[in-house]
Amino acid sequence: MIANRLVSENIAQYLKTEFIGRKLYGLDTIDSTNSEVKRKSSVEAEGTVVFSEQQTAGRGRLGREWISPKGKGILMSLLLKPDLPPAKIPQLTMIGAAAIFLALENLDASLQDKVRIKWPNDILLGEKKIGGILTEMQANGDRVQSVVIGIGLNVSLQAADFPEELVMKATSLFLATGKVYERERLMAEILNCFEPLYLKFLKGATKEFLAICRQRSAVIGKKVFLTEKGEGHEVEVLDLGPQGELIVKMANGKISSIISGEISLSFSS
Ligand code: BTN
Repeated sequence: MIANRLVSENIAQYLKTEFIGRKLYGLDTIDSTNSEVKRKSSVEAEGTVVFSEQQTAGRGRLGREWISPKGKGILMSLLLKPDLPPAKIPQLTMIGAAAIFLALENLDASLQDKVRIKWPNDILLGEKKIGGILTEMQANGDRVQSVVIGIGLNVSLQAADFPEELVMKATSLFLATGKVYERERLMAEILNCFEPLYLKFLKGATKEFLAICRQRSAVIGKKVFLTEKGEGHEVEVLDLGPQGELIVKMANGKISSIISGEISLSFSS
């Protein structure tokens, strides 16, 4: 398959946003687009996006590597400067997840029933991961200086692009559907879907993105294995709370709100 190079002007043609993605930096190779946005954060405006054809040190959550072979994925990071307390920033990950879901649905309605959001930041197609969001914040005490929303989406990766340990867990849009999706359009659509959800969130409106994350959840109603602060428990996921926290029922019947953790679906029913 020939990988077309991403061209900023083509992405811009698809943009319907006011400020998100209106400044685009397109790179061939970088360590991590999140790191690059962080380096630019003091001089660039909110909405600036850095994307790259490949990353040499692509990062996922919990210090994991993000597989970033050349020309086959969406590897982009978005700079935000919200006037919000640090505690609200994790909700931006969910806005990212909802935006990815909406963009995929807008590009291909047949994906609607297949794409699921696994709290807090994984995008699944069927049972396997196709994308993720890495939100990183720079704060000075109680003041958020900037936030980087890193989005990785496996568009046309082949099975051989994944290391052996990920073959059963990860896939790409191409591997799962046999279709070739236009990366430039998909990137623009993610940004188009992100902006209105973000603007509403800044005004305190969380209903819309939470509804998407609820309806499209891969975990609500399931028994899962939750790792939290280094400890693992089997829990039943009941819902998402108003701040995007996971509401779970513990084995002893106690209801608990989880702000940050890692879920494994291997116990799901
Ligand atoms: C995860 O699922 O753990 C999050 C993955 C986020 C990957 C993206 S790729 C673009 C940006 N740059 C990075 O180094 N990571 C994010």
